[in-house]
Amino acid sequence: MPMATMSTKLFVTGGAGFIGSAFIRLLLDRDDATEITNFDALTYAGNLDNLQDLDPERHHFIRGNITDREAVQAALGDGTQAIINFAAESHVDRSILSADEFLRTNILGTQVLLDAARERGVNRFLQVSTDEIMGSLLEDETAYFTESSAFAPNSPYAASKAAAEHLVRAAHHTFGLDTIITRCGNNYGPRQFPEKFLPLAVSNALNDQSIPIYGDGRNVRDWIYVDDHCRAILLALEKGRSGEVFNIGARNERRNIEVAESVLDALGKPHSLLRFVKDRPGHDRRYAIDPTLAEAELGWAPIETWESGLRKTISWYQENARWVERTRSGAYQTYYEQQYGTEVTS
Ligand code: NAD
Ligand code: DAU
Repeated sequence: MPMATMSTKLFVTGGAGFIGSAFIRLLLDRDDATEITNFDALTYAGNLDNLQDLDPERHHFIRGNITDREAVQAALGDGTQAIINFAAESHVDRSILSADEFLRTNILGTQVLLDAARERGVNRFLQVSTDEIMGSLLEDETAYFTESSAFAPNSPYAASKAAAEHLVRAAHHTFGLDTIITRCGNNYGPRQFPEKFLPLAVSNALNDQSIPIYGDGRNVRDWIYVDDHCRAILLALEKGRSGEVFNIGARNERRNIEVAESVLDALGKPHSLLRFVKDRPGHDRRYAIDPTLAEAELGWAPIETWESGLRKTISWYQENARWVERTRSGAYQTYYEQQYGTEVTS
């Protein structure tokens, strides 16, 4: 799907969230010929502050829910070249507390978008998925997730994203819809809602508050800087072949404890701020992505190292204390606090 030769109209869902807003920023910075409709329900995770600096001529925000067929149809308009679906309930801990909204948005919402793409003759549908659909690898093995790894989702969130992938696959197979699926690991960077581990660690540490570490802290995640993920999505959109799946990872496995210690060290804070707490139920032990296909076929490679990405991320949170304050005063409580209160210590 060659782009940027003439005016390109894209429909991005969930673009007021963490990754979607980074994707829009990247795209608008990259070329002048792209116009984006950003369709987002503004749930607790959607934030208009994330869109403040975007060119209003080329970025059109519409508040709407992807489960609402009429609203999606009305917003989609004619001549849209691609739908890029970021909209989702994205936090594993919340899905453990209640799965309802995950099923509605992540499964039903994806089907509504697929139907709308077919009805409106949209050329391409890109589903932003996750490595979590492939379950958990063992801590000390050297296995990696590949595009042909089996589905084995372990949390309600992961199960809902796996179901969404199946629906995308079915739309391709049954109706010939031109689809791409990208699966990524743990993103980090500016504007990530501070219920997620890394921004929670940074914002807690900045306020000399402790960082909750689930279980023994040895769980491994494969971290990627958000802009590197977004560049991979863009390349997959442009160069991927219809029906393809791409695993996106920066070959950057880290134990949670190591991530938290890196944050504390970068801020000159003591390791005594680490607080081991009760584990997440069903906590996946290790994620590790083999990105060979994306590297070979898309010519993609990450730009940021763990050190440079973490530096940029921490600086952003230091310089945007008001963003964090406004987000947190939305009276959110982490899963850990909701389950166990704030008094439990190890
Ligand atoms: P986020 O929670 O920061 O943002 C989600 C956005 O979707 C918000 O702006 C929210 O308002 C919007 N949204 C939620 N429900 C909606 C609905 N029903 N209709 C319209 N908009 C709705 O999420 P994120 O971290 O930016 O993740 C974006 C996508 O990437 C998700 O699909 C997620 O599964 C996937 N993903 C995330 C990561 C990660 O590390 N964060 C990794 C791999 C894949
Ligand atoms: O792998 C991709 C996935 O990464 C995405 O699909 C999800 O949308 C995204 O939320 C993320 O899922 P995780 O569950 O891995 O992310 P989270 O930030 O919630 O947790 C990262 C790790 O840190 C995980 O092993 C749990 C642990 N953790 C988390 C929190 C919030 C803690 O130890 N303490 C915490 O307070």
